[in-house]
Amino acid sequence: MKIILLGYMGSGKSTIGRLLSERLATSFIDLDAEIEERVNLSVSQYFERFGELRFRKLEREVLLDVLGRSGSMVIATGGGTPCYGDALEQMKSHSDAVTIYLKASIATLTDRLISQKDSRPIIQQLTSTELPEFIGKHLFERSHFYLQADHVVPIDAKDQRAISEEILALL
Ligand code: S3P
Repeated sequence: MKIILLGYMGSGKSTIGRLLSERLATSFIDLDAEIEERVNLSVSQYFERFGELRFRKLEREVLLDVLGRSGSMVIATGGGTPCYGDALEQMKSHSDAVTIYLKASIATLTDRLISQKDSRPIIQQLTSTELPEFIGKHLFERSHFYLQADHVVPIDAKDQRAISEEILALL
């Protein structure tokens, strides 16, 4: 089975993904890390040098590569992965894949992202005051994609272990 975690930046996809893979004794794949390894640049550096459009193309390529691998795995996608081109369809069309949206509120995301702003190309240019409004609008646009996940797991005020247990119970 491929468990695919979707959600906005800061929703905990990588942390929860790693925990789940430990519990299930499967491999864990962080899509951003796969991309970084492939191009030998950080996601921020890639954005800076080649721009978002090239990043989205590369992101799709790496996603297809990962989806084509055999065996069980937990995949943490990037916040934008399901929102471009046919990426979501590709994920959902895999018969052994389960997509899970880690749903966080604007307040939770703002709290988490405010201190990590500089390392994240999408929100780097914003001031801390602009951040909640930006997240609100961006999340609204992206929710259309996120909400097509097979399961929606609200994560506000829950600890990581409780979230992974909740996900395990869904499988
Ligand atoms: C992005 C989220 C990031 C990374 C890139 C773009 C986005 O992943 O893929 O910076 O568009 O939301 P995380 O959600 O893992 O931070």
